Amino acid sequence: ELKDNTVIVVFGASGDLAKKKTYPALFGLYRNGYLPKDVHIVGYARTKMDEAEYHKRATSYIKNPDNDPEVSAKVEEFKKLSTYISGGYEDSPSFQNLTKHLESIESKYPSKEANRLFYLALPPSVFVPVAKHVKESCYSANGINRIIVEKPFGKDLQSCRDLLGSLKQSWTEDETFRIDHYLGKEMVKNLLVLRFANIAMGAAWDKNSISNVQITFKEPFGTEGRGGYFDEFGIIRDVLQNHLLQVLSILTMERPVSFAAEDIRDEKVKVLRAIPPIERKDTLLGQYVSANGKPGYLDDDTVPKGSVCPTFAATVLWINNERWEGVPFVLKAGKALNEAKVEIRVQFKDVTQGIFKDISRNELVMRIQPSEAVYLKLNTKTPGLYTRALPTEMDLTYKRRFSDAKIPEAYEALILDALKGDHSNFVRDDELDVAWKIFTPILHWIDGVEGPRPRPSPYPYGSRGPKELDDFIGKLGYKRSTDG
Ligand code: BG6
Repeated sequence: ELKDNTVIVVFGASGDLAKKKTYPALFGLYRNGYLPKDVHIVGYARTKMDEAEYHKRATSYIKNPDNDPEVSAKVEEFKKLSTYISGGYEDSPSFQNLTKHLESIESKYPSKEANRLFYLALPPSVFVPVAKHVKESCYSANGINRIIVEKPFGKDLQSCRDLLGSLKQSWTEDETFRIDHYLGKEMVKNLLVLRFANIAMGAAWDKNSISNVQITFKEPFGTEGRGGYFDEFGIIRDVLQNHLLQVLSILTMERPVSFAAEDIRDEKVKVLRAIPPIERKDTLLGQYVSANGKPGYLDDDTVPKGSVCPTFAATVLWINNERWEGVPFVLKAGKALNEAKVEIRVQFKDVTQGIFKDISRNELVMRIQPSEAVYLKLNTKTPGLYTRALPTEMDLTYKRRFSDAKIPEAYEALILDALKGDHSNFVRDDELDVAWKIFTPILHWIDGVEGPRPRPSPYPYGSRGPKELDDFIGKLGYKRSTDG
């Protein structure tokens, strides 16, 4: 449950993640009354700035397009509970100074209890020293201490193990909350309900009914200005190995013993362990080139000249267990594509020995964003005097069905979970380990560890991806339905 007397410390308070995600999420929670009583937010970063400047930055991504006075009033209240302190990331005195600041806030609490949530919105180079200093200097003796960290968790299996090992010297697994923000998304959280609260779904959920599954991430913009970071990681580490694999694990795991965090995570790990490392032949790489007046990846000044870093990847994963043997799971993601869309597409097998000819396959689509929807492609008789099977949709578009619902931002959901101590939607250490095992061999190949680096296929900015894509998916048995 939520603990009163909590201070949330945001490290990296002047950075992009904090500004764009952490603060707007904290504000969203505050505005709707979800933060604990007597909460206080402390921003911490190297940048020297006064409180006014900090408040300006921290609230710069909070949306209030209609200048709603109620929102403006809440923003003013929110500023009052947010203070800032600058300091280094690698020296004890800075952290002792932070502790003094925390104690002065906590001295006003009615009880002695002092709970602290440390959010590390930081580049990976300082994860370890900050985690260590916080433990040594800022750990509350009279309450709960928790730490939130976010990817990148290393670059391959070994570096991830090293990083986790170092963090574990100061923080227990129970105190650690590793964010994969896809786990906070409404439709991803819905997967458990769709799968385990519907007998109709359960009955068709295996290799006997399902032909293939695609989990697709498409962004209509390139790396614009973020090329320095991106080039070091590439699309597989940026999106597939974490966000899409997390979605896959919830989609395919067995029913957990209960709704408890450890039971859910046990099942996720189990299904991931049944996936062998991805093979080169099951991988298609691409890189966008300039088109329609838009710059190519290599035109980005922050990208090293001649880089062969993939900005698009499609990979096939196979799950060697009784339920899924032989069903290809395609994970694909790309920057600078033709649209913004993240979806799961489960394509069922053909109706065999049917009485109807040339009918489309059933497909269950779960659209994660934009505009959440679940729809099932279903053949229906064309209304009228003749009998023909027409592909139609049973459509659960959230905007229509839940028109009044406010769908929380992923970071709102996750920060609230961390405040409550619920690990269900955070990534456990062994999950990361097995996720890296699946991807490390192809990543080493792409990085040129074992020979020349593979050249990604070029695709025009704003297109559907490399021209080889349709063939790649077609070979796995995917059939385009009549309505595309
Ligand atoms: C981040 C990646 O983890 O996820 C970004 O680093 C990507 O490259 C982003 O754009 C996508 O998140 P969302 O919530 O906008 O789909």
